[in-house]
Amino acid sequence: MGIWARRKSIESTIGLQEGHQLKKTLSWPHLVALGVGAIVGTGIYTLTGIGAGLAGPGVILSFLIAGAVCACAALCYAELSTMIPASGSAYTYTYVSMGEPAAWFVGWSLILEYTLVCAAVAVGWSAHAAGLFRLIGTPEFLLAGPHAGGLVNLPAVIISFAVAGLLALGTRESATVNMVLVAIKIVALAIFVVLCLPAFDASHFTPFLPQGFAATPGPDGVKVGVMAAASLIFFAFYGFDAVSTAAEETKNPKRDLTIGIVGSMAVCTVIYMVVAAVSIGASRTEVFSKSEAPLVFILETLAHPRMAQLVALAAVVALPTVILAFMYGQSRIFFVMARDGLLPKGLARVNAKTGTPVLMTLLTGALSALLSGWLSLKDIAELANAGTLAAFIAVGLSVIILRVRDPGRPRVFSTPIWPVVATGAILGCLYLFSSLPSKTQIYFLFAHLIGAAVYVAFGMRNSVLARREALARPAS
Ligand code: ALA
Repeated sequence: MGIWARRKSIESTIGLQEGHQLKKTLSWPHLVALGVGAIVGTGIYTLTGIGAGLAGPGVILSFLIAGAVCACAALCYAELSTMIPASGSAYTYTYVSMGEPAAWFVGWSLILEYTLVCAAVAVGWSAHAAGLFRLIGTPEFLLAGPHAGGLVNLPAVIISFAVAGLLALGTRESATVNMVLVAIKIVALAIFVVLCLPAFDASHFTPFLPQGFAATPGPDGVKVGVMAAASLIFFAFYGFDAVSTAAEETKNPKRDLTIGIVGSMAVCTVIYMVVAAVSIGASRTEVFSKSEAPLVFILETLAHPRMAQLVALAAVVALPTVILAFMYGQSRIFFVMARDGLLPKGLARVNAKTGTPVLMTLLTGALSALLSGWLSLKDIAELANAGTLAAFIAVGLSVIILRVRDPGRPRVFSTPIWPVVATGAILGCLYLFSSLPSKTQIYFLFAHLIGAAVYVAFGMRNSVLARREALARPAS
């Protein structure tokens, strides 16, 4: 059997090796909180401004398009994560549907995505926390990376390590802390909406599409238009996929994951539409797009300085929930890939006391610290999007393949009109990928060339399926 024929069965993903099982401690309220915690973050608090600069008021369409694509992907995730309730998310679904090389590609994309999201949110957090760091005398060169004239973004480095430490202490504690912080984040956005409503001016919505619809290079070569903004704003919507990485640790995967994924996605889409609309109503896009913390900026221009500080503080307190959720997802992806023999086994060791893969968690924190300390938010977020789009495409394909290959298998959650929804997810993600900056697309391909080399050097020979193949081969 060649590598292209190496596929896992659904049964084998659920029956786990002894000593490598994660504790079942989570139920659906934890998962909705984990989902909302992962979804609402730097995207709405920071990237809304950059998106508005790329698309003008048409950024509202960017939100709609990115949200619609993610909704299709979320429905596909819900079907697969309830049918295959094992850790590993899109990576595991791809191993079952398309086999090992494709699974490696998706796993590598997820490693890219999760690590970069942690780093991007750490940079967004730092933008909101910089004032506090100045108060305690932190010099300017320690508040920004080299791309912005500094030496290192120290707050981003600190928050990356702090969240990794919290997560290493154990899933239950982290998820409970997460729930309180999610509430703070949502209340802050609600206050923002209420304060902006009286200032709503419909004339701010014209001209609606100053940069056009398709992603086309502007005068400085940077792609602008509704689709360019959508390919960036997409960052604000994902996170629900982090919920599916918790499948192995949920008490009742069938019910909990369906509510967790679809519920958190629906809640967040509504919140975003409202926040984007009132932002544009309260301030012109060309004005607030210049700010690194646009929501805080809008409240300041509306003469609510105290409330602006409060929203900034809420972001400082609550954005780490996003890092928490993605770091959680990252350590589990590593865990499953190592368990499958595609990465060194030592990485998968679960700490007996906390029930979490401590080494992987701390390694992810260190990677996030490295990236966030030295790179720009826009660059990191766009590359994270490329990895996520690849994973979503694989999920859409997996739904189609398994529906055709295994139509009789019971599906706890069935994607409605699946041919349309799964195809919509695939084509939507391809369109968003094509709207990303060319530089990002090239970096993504480069990252996968490195990934392919790692697979050929290690995983291709050491995977559990490769070893099974070798044992089954008749001695000659
Ligand atoms: N959706 C997450 C955020 O916006 C990644 O921060």
